[in-house]
Amino acid sequence: MVQLKPDQSMIKMTILLLAVLSVATTVQAAEPAAPRPSVERLAHACAGCHGTHGHAIAPTPSIHGKPEEDFVKAMQDFKSGQRESSIMNRIARAYTNGDIDAMAQFFKKY
Ligand code: HEC
Repeated sequence: MVQLKPDQSMIKMTILLLAVLSVATTVQAAEPAAPRPSVERLAHACAGCHGTHGHAIAPTPSIHGKPEEDFVKAMQDFKSGQRESSIMNRIARAYTNGDIDAMAQFFKKY
């Protein structure tokens, strides 16, 4: 019988693969029990499209200064698929209800 002997690079690849899988699993969890990142970090992920503190350059809509309930409704509608958007449906699903409430308060300040 042929015995496979893993070499250094194979072991490294396996470790890397496991690391990537564990990150992917964490990101997919809907309401994880683990502590969430700070709201500043959550909001940072939006800046690429919606600008710093939600001040966007058209055509992406600005998301700063909105009443909290409007922000939450938009995010929840994207999350459930009630409101269609090729980009925001996927993004909204990555956040817990608590994250969305925290971001609503955060962006309202600016
Ligand atoms: C890859 C670009 C991109 C990123 C990143 C992004 N968005 Fe969006 N967002 C859009 C686009 C485009 C729209 C307009 C979609 C539509 O109305 O169909 C939008 C719409 C929205 C709206 C609705 C605005 C309105 O006035 O109706 C909210 C709220 C929103 N995004 C919040 C967020 C939050 C919070 C994040 C970060 C967690 C985020 N977005 C990250 C592209 C992005």
